Amino acid sequence: MNLIHFINVNKIYQAAETVSFQALKNINLSVQKGEFLAIIGASGSGKSTLINIIGLLDRPTSGSYNLEGQDTTNSNQDTLAKLRNQKIGFVFQNFNLLPRTSTLQNVALPLIYSGFSKKEREQKAQQMIAEVGLSEKLNSHPNQLSGGQQQRVAIARALVTNPEIILADEPTGNLDSKSGGEIVELFQKLNKTGKTIIMITHEDNIAKHAKKIIHIKDGEIVR
Ligand SMILES: Nc1ncnc2c1ncn2[C@@H]1O[C@H](COP(=O)(O)OP(=O)(O)OP(=O)(O)O)[C@@H](O)[C@H]1O
Ligand SMILES: [Mg+2]
Repeated sequence: MNLIHFINVNKIYQAAETVSFQALKNINLSVQKGEFLAIIGASGSGKSTLINIIGLLDRPTSGSYNLEGQDTTNSNQDTLAKLRNQKIGFVFQNFNLLPRTSTLQNVALPLIYSGFSKKEREQKAQQMIAEVGLSEKLNSHPNQLSGGQQQRVAIARALVTNPEIILADEPTGNLDSKSGGEIVELFQKLNKTGKTIIMITHEDNIAKHAKKIIHIKDGEIVR
């Protein structure tokens, strides 16, 4: 069964009554469990639009999106939020960490509605922080960490709810090539443990670490 299945997905942004822009054109896409997929394409080609729909942050204008066999197209906001919390971890270009908040608390944050006690939440967070190699930085705030370290905190935060799918929108975009390389290696390691990873990038030398690459141009998958 496909983990992610898009059938004829279109996305039209309606800026004003008479101004619209078609950001995705008839996208058909299947992603299997355990894949490591890179999406590349020029600025404005529709990459973030696509990954936001995959991550249930936005909806298609038409077409359908099945996640693990469940049609999400007509689901209400609550159902989508629940699915998103259970199945998806997001990693962003600018890390999106809370400032003046420790590594430990940033990573524990997504567990706040999980029903775990504070102690359990902190234990799980510590485990994930160890997984990304940052155990010595438990009490550091984001501005006391390097860019690569901040991104590793963000990855630990994405992982702490144990989602099946990790979505990353230009995760190495703000990093030098060495730190960027370390982030991709971390994704490869996670992929080996069975996580499905979808990563947007501009850089060919980052994309080549994925198992599969798709190219998007003017809202269409061209390769
Ligand atoms: N909310 C919006 N309203 C109108 N147009 C939008 C909106 N969001 C994105 N667009 C347009 O849709 C197109 C695709 O945008 P998207 O953000 O998906 O591109 P991208 O491939 O992620 O680009 P980049 O590499 O610069 O991040 C762009 O032309 C953009 O201007
Ligand atoms: Mg983008």
